Amino acid sequence: MVSEEKIDKFKEAARIIKSAKYLVVFTGAGISAESGVPTFRGDNGIWKKYDSNVLSLSYFIEHPEESWKAQKEFFDIILNANPNYAHIALAELEKKGILKSIVTQNIDNLHQKAGSENVFEFHGTMKTVTCINPRCMHKYKTEELDLTNLPPKCEKCGSVLKTDICFFEENPPEPAKSLSFQEASKTDVMIIVGTSGVVHPAALLPVTAKENGAKIIEINPDSSLLTIYGTTDIFLQGEAGEVMKKIMEEME
Ligand code: OAD
Ligand code: ZN
Repeated sequence: MVSEEKIDKFKEAARIIKSAKYLVVFTGAGISAESGVPTFRGDNGIWKKYDSNVLSLSYFIEHPEESWKAQKEFFDIILNANPNYAHIALAELEKKGILKSIVTQNIDNLHQKAGSENVFEFHGTMKTVTCINPRCMHKYKTEELDLTNLPPKCEKCGSVLKTDICFFEENPPEPAKSLSFQEASKTDVMIIVGTSGVVHPAALLPVTAKENGAKIIEINPDSSLLTIYGTTDIFLQGEAGEVMKKIMEEME
């Protein structure tokens, strides 16, 4: 049962979204949970199975094989994952001209698979890899690599290849980082979907939007740091697909 108070919140959120001049959506791992992609934190999170070091640059340099093993497992999951209702609804809002851009922390490509076009990948991508030799830096498509023997090596110079994901100890890639902050400064309504808000500088995007006067709507089954610290104006508690369905119904 959805309480009266919740119904009002959905109506209010739908009204704000409809009247937005520059709607930006900021997503985290939670939006892909209903697509079978595990989140990082929480009971079934990736960091329960692996130490988060597997995605740190210093660990990768010392233990590329172990880091690659973990990444390959994740890569296999996301290659086979399909967008869920939340990704599809956001792509629809873009086609209708209501949504201007999506800034995602996700590396799963599900927004693009759903048909979203203006997507900024704040934490990079798993679609490509780069040779770590600074004099080479040759790029390859991940799906074209032979991942039987890990780590994969560069055909040009023999050095180790690294996925274009932003690792811990690295800065988010440019121009995605600057463009994402530009979007956060421009937006008058930001919807945050499925992020714990603990990773910086990504978590500063909603804060930047709020400081520039945007209304912040958040979708998450649990409170995040953004809810707790009061960045969020309207908290819609629930799973991304379910909540987006209610919003889309209210907007009809
Ligand atoms: P987290 O795993 O930290 O948080 C996932 C969030 O999604 C939590 O707040 C959950 O409550 C919420 N959630 C779970 N199921 C959901 C559902 N069905 N619908 C909506 N929300 C749901 O993931 P992120 O915040 O994305 O960085 O993590 C940020 C970064 O930390 C990631 O980009 C990754 C990681 O280290 C890199 O890989 C560089
Ligand atoms: Zn090379």
